[in-house]
Amino acid sequence: MNQTLNQTVAQTPKPPQTADASSGSGLKIHHIGYLVKKMDAAMDSFLRLGYTVSRDTVYDSIRNIHICFMEKDGYTIELISPSDSTSVAAGLMKKYKNSPYHICYETQDLDDMLARLTAGGYAAIDAPAPAPALDGRRVVFLVSPFLGMIELLETC
Ligand code: NI
Repeated sequence: MNQTLNQTVAQTPKPPQTADASSGSGLKIHHIGYLVKKMDAAMDSFLRLGYTVSRDTVYDSIRNIHICFMEKDGYTIELISPSDSTSVAAGLMKKYKNSPYHICYETQDLDDMLARLTAGGYAAIDAPAPAPALDGRRVVFLVSPFLGMIELLETC
């Protein structure tokens, strides 16, 4: 093997193709979170695509947002709309506009999974807290520098 090829190989390590100890085996996709500026208009637009409302709009006073859940073909989406400019979602809205911005994963052990993911390069951007729109189950948001934001939700 010549020197040039050795350098190329060294600079492009093959990513792991299977789950390792720090990965999320045991995670189950729960929903895709959409930021929307106008909740009623967004719901109407999803209804026109054939979605149905699975959980009607509730106000989350912890995060200052309105949330509803809709479903289609076995997929669940969560619509999140900031209630005012003090909401964390208002800041996200400036960055993302109307768009999907996180995938939420259910886990049996939220604290253990949070520790495993943060040890594996994810950064928690808040502390686990109850989600009124999901029966008070705890959620936490994390960011990966390589794939953006995810949410963990404890299994009920
Ligand atoms: Ni969510």
